[in-house]
Amino acid sequence: MKTDHFGKDIATVLLTEEQIQRRLVEVAAQVDEDYADRDILLVGVLKGAVVVMADFIRCLESHVTMDWMAISTYGSGTKSSGVVRILKDLDTDLDGRDVLIVEDILDTGLTLSWLIENLRSRGPASVEVFTFLRKPDAVQVELDPKYVGFDIPNEFVVGYGLDYAEHYRNMREVGVLEPSVYGR
Ligand code: PRP
Repeated sequence: MKTDHFGKDIATVLLTEEQIQRRLVEVAAQVDEDYADRDILLVGVLKGAVVVMADFIRCLESHVTMDWMAISTYGSGTKSSGVVRILKDLDTDLDGRDVLIVEDILDTGLTLSWLIENLRSRGPASVEVFTFLRKPDAVQVELDPKYVGFDIPNEFVVGYGLDYAEHYRNMREVGVLEPSVYGR
């Protein structure tokens, strides 16, 4: 769905469809180079990563397989706490695999740092991260994702998989949500 259709809910467009697609091609080329001749297991975290995964996987020339986890972070409203529960685990045995986590956003970093530790404990050959968005001003833990799509300001963003109250995930662009929508 186009951003215009969301009317005044979107304060500003941060990333256009063209910018997003161009960046995905660049990141995919880097991943192809780094993983030459290795089979990558892409691990997505439901639900936010669905959209970026769908586009990113088609930019890759490497052989890949894909698996998904659903996790729930305990926290109130827009804040995550780092306390995580697995709702749906991977179907894939990670023993000896090259894992590339695909995330939509690294906000505080609490979710990703938990996930990296959890996956590393399963005996993979490697675990790396591609996060589509990162908020450098919000990060609370030391994390160094190998691939970052875009660094963005510490604003409430929606679209391209990212939601507010489960809405806006189907917006084609990434935009800043008008604060009145979430009652700030
Ligand atoms: C979002 C996002 C990350 C996490 C990032 O997930 O997909 O997993 O928050 O936040 P953090 O860096 O502060 O831990 P959310 O729990 O909103 O679920 P969703 O993917 O279903 O939207």
